[in-house]
Amino acid sequence: MATLEIKDLHAAVTTDEGSKEILKGVNLTIRSGETHAIMGPNGSGKSTLSYAIAGHPKYEVTSGEVLLDGESVLDMTVDERARAGLFLAMQYPVEVPGVSMSNFLRTAATAVRGEAPKLRHWVKEVKDEMAKLEIPAEFAERSVNEGFSGGEKKRHEILQLALLKPKIAILDETDSGLDVDALRIVSEGVNDYKANSEVGVMLITHYTRILRHITPDFVHVFAGGRVVESGGKELADELEENGYVKYVGKQEPAAV
Ligand SMILES: Nc1ncnc2c1ncn2[C@@H]1O[C@H](COP(=O)(O)OP(=O)(O)O)[C@@H](O)[C@H]1O
Ligand SMILES: [Mg+2]
Repeated sequence: MATLEIKDLHAAVTTDEGSKEILKGVNLTIRSGETHAIMGPNGSGKSTLSYAIAGHPKYEVTSGEVLLDGESVLDMTVDERARAGLFLAMQYPVEVPGVSMSNFLRTAATAVRGEAPKLRHWVKEVKDEMAKLEIPAEFAERSVNEGFSGGEKKRHEILQLALLKPKIAILDETDSGLDVDALRIVSEGVNDYKANSEVGVMLITHYTRILRHITPDFVHVFAGGRVVESGGKELADELEENGYVKYVGKQEPAAV
């Protein structure tokens, strides 16, 4: 069992004009086996939340806590966070020219598992997971994310999820850029991992589309840098119907 606790988290992003506070007191607890959908308008700070938890250098946590099984995640290096069982799939995955996917995945698995996976098992494991996600075999030799389409990047992330087997997975806009078939394959990949593990999932999404494939146990509305309402999956239906107007208010500038 694992528990991720986010307590009154405040974080700022470093911009050319200086530091700008984005997260304004986020409270959220995610336990093993639970799927939490975080839904909110563009610019509300959803990606900032995932970056702050992951330890992205551009995002500075100014106060509050993030605890994984009572241990302070914020005091860990990025590597230690991964080893502790945290996984982040980014909204805009980075390209890594010159590093093949197969090398990248094995290095990541070695770092997370604490020892290099046995080659014969590993090759089979990767092959099986790639087949499930309908990723063509030749992708293993391509540079990480370089020239990948939006859908290919997202499949690659779910491949990482399946191989790295985190305790807590943060998936940021996993549905963006996916056509109907890719959405189904990626969702099946997440559901498959959920069914075979005790993972706790934070599923960040702007649209309710992916929630028809991955059923959340809890839905949280994220606006103005914090969670402003929480409910069950019926809350997603309400958002689909009425949008975020009720939560954004007039004082918020239009999001970009
Ligand atoms: N690296 C950055 N530089 C400047 N501003 C940023 C940066 N990252 C985020 N922001 C600002 O922080 C706010 C929240 O952004 P983000 O977390 O990406 O929102 P969301 O994912 O909910 O759309 C936005 O106003 C955005 O412009
Ligand atoms: Mg975002």
